[in-house]
Amino acid sequence: EKGGYASFMHKEIAEQPRAVADTLLGRIGADGALILDELRIPAAELREVDKVVVVACGTAFHAGLIAKYAIEHWTRLPCEVELASEFRYRDPILDARSLVIAISQSGETMDTLMALRHAREQGSRVLAICNTNGSTIPRESDAVLYTHAGPEVAVASTKAFLTQLVACYLVALYLGQARGTKWGDEVLGVVRDLADIAGAVERVLGDMEPVRELARSLAGAGTVLFLGRHVGYPVALEGALKLKELAYMHAEGFAAGELKHGPIALVEEGLPVVVVVPSPRGRCVLHDKIVSNIQEIRARGARTIVIAEEGDDAVLPYADHVVRVPVTPTLLQPLVTTVPLQVFACELAVARGNEVDQPRNLAKSVTVE
Ligand code: F6R
Repeated sequence: EKGGYASFMHKEIAEQPRAVADTLLGRIGADGALILDELRIPAAELREVDKVVVVACGTAFHAGLIAKYAIEHWTRLPCEVELASEFRYRDPILDARSLVIAISQSGETMDTLMALRHAREQGSRVLAICNTNGSTIPRESDAVLYTHAGPEVAVASTKAFLTQLVACYLVALYLGQARGTKWGDEVLGVVRDLADIAGAVERVLGDMEPVRELARSLAGAGTVLFLGRHVGYPVALEGALKLKELAYMHAEGFAAGELKHGPIALVEEGLPVVVVVPSPRGRCVLHDKIVSNIQEIRARGARTIVIAEEGDDAVLPYADHVVRVPVTPTLLQPLVTTVPLQVFACELAVARGNEVDQPRNLAKSVTVE
């Protein structure tokens, strides 16, 4: 039931604060330590892991790309992320010390299933991050961490993506906890920040009318580019994917640092470019670099749509439109920056008269290779 919303996608976007909170529920102890006994992988075994490999498709793959930043930072383990459809065909190097994480909303995606089967044949442990109880991928994995997004009906994934991110952060922190790396004030702090994130998502959702208005004004555009850096880069890829699927528009996501290696040639008068700006705190070098990118593309006529933290005024001189997100720790920022991009794509689809819940040519579960 759509519960009064215009579409399941509208409803599922709105349900995200709840989905995020539900995915954290019962998994953080009163002392801030993580309770993930449900994984049933003994801590001794987690300490033996020497590499993490994430396999997934589409939006779930983007969650994996973001997970890499968190896993490597918090666990100091090397982490590879690969499209499940490519993984098996390149003879990947895996053994009993590799932990393979398969991310899937439906739990039925054939490419992801085949990738995990291949990993298990090599003797690797497979952990599924999945939203569908009792589906094939968790059944065939050694362990599962369920996302508690509730049923996702719209073909384009929204709330499942945010909960996949939450699950990835939990796994990264848990691995860090089990391995004793970086486990201390920093990780406890992150757990506290995670607990606040549902409220931050709620705040973003409360202020989406300007994004909808902007989307409607772009209904006639041919191409939209998305730029991001660090964890904002996979967010840019996800923003572009949502726009393709829903609005049937040409959209591409780029790492902002790559602009001058090619994509800047695409910039022409009036081209809408969405830029996901990292926090000016912490990694401020990246922030400054991306502000110069915004300046460069604006000088070439781009219409700049900037997603930036509250209080980040450095972007103002070069932004045609600013979308504000709450101040969030850098690694967790995708949980808030993705939301305006979902709303943007959804509204553009409506403005272009497209069927939001059932985009043409797509199926909710892709059970063929
Ligand atoms: C995009 C989308 C798809 C899925 C992909 C994987 O909005 O929904 O890209 O993310 O087909 O599906 P699951 O997560 O079910 O394995």
